[in-house]
Amino acid sequence: MIITIDGPSSSGKSTVAKLVSKFFSIVHIDSGSIYRAITLLAMDNNLIHKKKVNIQYLLKCLEENKISFKKKEKNIFKICINDNFIEKRIRTSEISNNVSIVAAIKEVRDYVLKLQRKIAKNQSVVMDGRDIGSVVFPNAKYKFFLEASLKNRSERRWNDLKKNEKNISLANVKKDLSIRDILDTNREHSPLVVPKNSIIINSDNLSIDQVADKIIKLIN
Ligand code: DC
Repeated sequence: MIITIDGPSSSGKSTVAKLVSKFFSIVHIDSGSIYRAITLLAMDNNLIHKKKVNIQYLLKCLEENKISFKKKEKNIFKICINDNFIEKRIRTSEISNNVSIVAAIKEVRDYVLKLQRKIAKNQSVVMDGRDIGSVVFPNAKYKFFLEASLKNRSERRWNDLKKNEKNISLANVKKDLSIRDILDTNREHSPLVVPKNSIIINSDNLSIDQVADKIIKLIN
């Protein structure tokens, strides 16, 4: 069983996907975390200057370092670089502000595509991202697309970031999200689109639990 959940930044995909994976007792993979891990590698190796990425060295870094998912709890797999969990380091606004340019690189997307398909080869998964139902698993049986207004998504993201970044303003979070929306939707390779045959769910007036319930009911 492959369940795909796509949508823009902070539409609640990962949280909903986690609840759905728990209900069906299958693995959840947050594909955005792979792009964030690659961005962390690029930044740790000083490969991003003025929003330009040194692609050649980044590909070398990907050959020399192992990006994988390791089990944290039952059905919960988290992204690792060389077997070390990096969850906290990939959730900063610095990573968020650079990840879209890394995710737009064709070679990076090819690398991630291989990893995503390998993970789903021998097991059921619920995977969330931007191109999961359109490019990664176009033939998946269960495809969903979450949408929510920029205002609601910015508030959600701000509430999350505030816990670790005390001085962050809602206005800045909103600006960063709108830039990311533009980059993710207009890039040449695997842009954010509503996948063919997917069910669109607007979460503006729904709680995360209500969205997850809706998806579970539809699948059942
Ligand atoms: O869901 P997120 O904010 O953690 O995703 C981080 C970035 O990764 C996002 O700006 C776009 C990119 N991404 C992508 O291009 N394709 C995916 N399947 C998932 C994420």
